[in-house]
Amino acid sequence: MYCTRKVSDDVIWVGADNRRATPFEGLYSIPNGVSYNSYLILDEKTALMDTVDKSVESIFYENVKSALGERELDYLVIQHMEPDHSAAVSGILLRYPSCRVVTNKKVADMLRAFTGADVDYIEVKEGDTIELGRHKLTFVMAPMVHWPEVMVIYDSLDGTLYSADAFGTFGALSGALFADEVDFERDYLDEARRYYTNIVGKYGSRVMALLKKASTLDIKILCPLHGFVWRENIDYYVNKYVQWATYSPEKRGVNVVYASIYGNTEIVANALCARLRECGIETRMHDVSVDEESWIIADSFKYSHLCFASPAYNSGLFPRMESLLHEIVNHGLSGRRIGFIESGSWAPSTSKKMREILSSLNDTVFLDEVVTVRSSLHDLEALTPLINAIKAEI
Ligand code: FEO
Repeated sequence: MYCTRKVSDDVIWVGADNRRATPFEGLYSIPNGVSYNSYLILDEKTALMDTVDKSVESIFYENVKSALGERELDYLVIQHMEPDHSAAVSGILLRYPSCRVVTNKKVADMLRAFTGADVDYIEVKEGDTIELGRHKLTFVMAPMVHWPEVMVIYDSLDGTLYSADAFGTFGALSGALFADEVDFERDYLDEARRYYTNIVGKYGSRVMALLKKASTLDIKILCPLHGFVWRENIDYYVNKYVQWATYSPEKRGVNVVYASIYGNTEIVANALCARLRECGIETRMHDVSVDEESWIIADSFKYSHLCFASPAYNSGLFPRMESLLHEIVNHGLSGRRIGFIESGSWAPSTSKKMREILSSLNDTVFLDEVVTVRSSLHDLEALTPLINAIKAEI
């Protein structure tokens, strides 16, 4: 049975939720599910905007069939070739053989690479337009948001920006389609941040380039490929994107991330957070053995200060801490103030190793007040220099 919703009188959401998803991109757990969005425009010509992931293909075909009714599909517009959106391209072309693909050359090259077949297509470049009748689509290239072939599409009839991965979020829609149908800030903002920072966080300058182009458009509706359609309060979400893309912290506070083999380093991290809280400073804590990296990376984008606490392990860092620090570097975080707690029973010298890994981060200040703990903490005063350094900045 199909399940669609109207975005407007002649634009229909034909996507689907997946709440049993395996890790997104094989990496990111999605306990709240995810939606794969596709939109059908019904005008003098009909146009399907992207397809979906293979996990929801069957409901997607039902949705498209139901939304088209007796009509033919004229165009399949492809913005992005990542398989979570392009898995059903071949299935659509088989079902609607007269449909023409509309896309750019980089997408067409990738389509050939994925399918092994040449697909006849109408090529579009920056600023090109296609008229469907009343709807007029303008193509805007958005390289590296999130792959090099990505483009977004502006429909001047209703001010809709089909924004590809941009403005997406993790989390199934669960019947809602519009962000104003839910308490987005309470229930979805954390997942939106985790989606942005982990999926496109590395490409902040490319996101800002797209936002600059978008600022010249009169956008009334945002239609991303994941998550909600935005028709109200769009500036709120755009401003979040500006913060994330410019690596500007949303909160003054400390994200304390620790590794602890037998609990002694955890005690130090707890003591640090308790004393910071007594000073009125907001804190967040993550145990690298428990919390998935994607959540820690999202909170590292959120807070102004980071503190990493790691014991020594096999003459190096605790492995999960080492992996996390490399991932933070890979995601291009910048502009943070970072403190360290090092621990160990005979060679507690991990701060130097942590600092070395993070040394390539731009615009980053490392606090000199390193806390060194041999086996376990016996005097809270050992934390005072680090606390005073953080207090002086927040
Ligand atoms: Fe949702 Fe970059 O694909």
